[in-house]
Amino acid sequence: MAKNLYQFNVAGSPVYVGSTALEELKSHLSTHYSEKDGIIILADENTHEHCYPLLIEEVPRLSHAFKIVIPAGESQKTLETCERVWNQFAVAGANRRSLLINLGGGMISDLGGFTGAVFHRGMDFIHIPTSLLGMVDASMGGKTGVDLYSLKNLIGVFSNPKAVYVWPRFLKTLPLRQLLSGYAEMMKHALIADYNFWSRLIAIPMAVISDWESYIVEAIKIKAEIVNRDPLETGDRLLLNFGHTLGHAFETWSLRHDEKPLTHGEAIAMGIICETYISYRTAGLSIVERDEIVKRILLNFNSYKIPTLAIDELVEITNYDKKNQRGRPMLTLIRNIGNAVAGQAVEPALIRESFFRFTDFVK
Ligand SMILES: NC(=O)c1ccc[n+]([C@@H]2O[C@H](COP(=O)([O-])OP(=O)(O)OC[C@H]3O[C@@H](n4cnc5c(N)ncnc54)[C@H](O)[C@@H]3O)[C@@H](O)[C@H]2O)c1
Repeated sequence: MAKNLYQFNVAGSPVYVGSTALEELKSHLSTHYSEKDGIIILADENTHEHCYPLLIEEVPRLSHAFKIVIPAGESQKTLETCERVWNQFAVAGANRRSLLINLGGGMISDLGGFTGAVFHRGMDFIHIPTSLLGMVDASMGGKTGVDLYSLKNLIGVFSNPKAVYVWPRFLKTLPLRQLLSGYAEMMKHALIADYNFWSRLIAIPMAVISDWESYIVEAIKIKAEIVNRDPLETGDRLLLNFGHTLGHAFETWSLRHDEKPLTHGEAIAMGIICETYISYRTAGLSIVERDEIVKRILLNFNSYKIPTLAIDELVEITNYDKKNQRGRPMLTLIRNIGNAVAGQAVEPALIRESFFRFTDFVK
């Protein structure tokens, strides 16, 4: 296999992608951290089982690091888990010279980044994303945080990792459903910024993609370009929220009501359907592209049925979105595939209509 290394800069953090990314981690550790500095690895139970042994094989020095392993899943992305992690930092004797390594998907990088950003008013952390979603989105850009009462990312800070190491080999153990979850964020990247990437994504069924590296690189390029224009999300970075305002409502609803909740990406795929409909109603998206997007999403994602009675609660959840202004949700919409516009105030009645139309689309 060819040895590749791609390097990006996202909001000031270096991001290394490729089969030699962990070599970069080795040299980062030897340049910046002595044996006396505490190194802590945070993983969830799955990434501990599947990814930690590979990491130790590649970077043997890390076998001495203090390990913190938490249960997996979005329901763990809470302040209660943070408290347990902070207690473990104290047990490990962590201080501002310590380094936290977040080994996992977006749940671990969001929660781990947040715990690191505020412990002793901030200690260094790096991300080693192990899910596709983490590799193309969650691990870069400095958004960290946790959910509150299942409301997404209500508590958090912007804090950038010292570096991000994307090693696609970790994907070998990622379940198909989780690969799909990352694929939804890649579709979103393409829809807001790059028609050619969209065409490439839909050219072959997701399930037959085995070499993800070039897709990851294209997706990171889009994210990097947008985040670097607006690191603190006061303008252009809002473009990355396409599908997320209503997607987060589905995710919160599912976390509250489903025994087996939606993955983040499944919820975002559903949010993309609704926000594509709103784009068609108010932002000039053609019916041809609307139907194309909905068809492509439904080809990949199971048609999740929501009871009509859930719609009141979904609308209510959108009232808590951080980006709302004067009581109105502010959405990112697309004018056509590859061209999005942020900060569009949408009437609550149209939000409700989009949830009803969603139930038609998935019939
Ligand atoms: N900060 C950001 O900019 C940003 C952007 C997008 C999403 N997010 C957040 O990311 C989270 C979703 O991330 P996610 O989809 O990675 O979820 P996740 O971290 O919960 O991982 C999904 C599942 O895959 C397992 N897993 C991860 N890597 C594995 C591997 N290599 N082998 C086997 N199992 C593995 C995990 O244990 C978990 O069960 C959400 O909380 C979302 O809000 C954050």
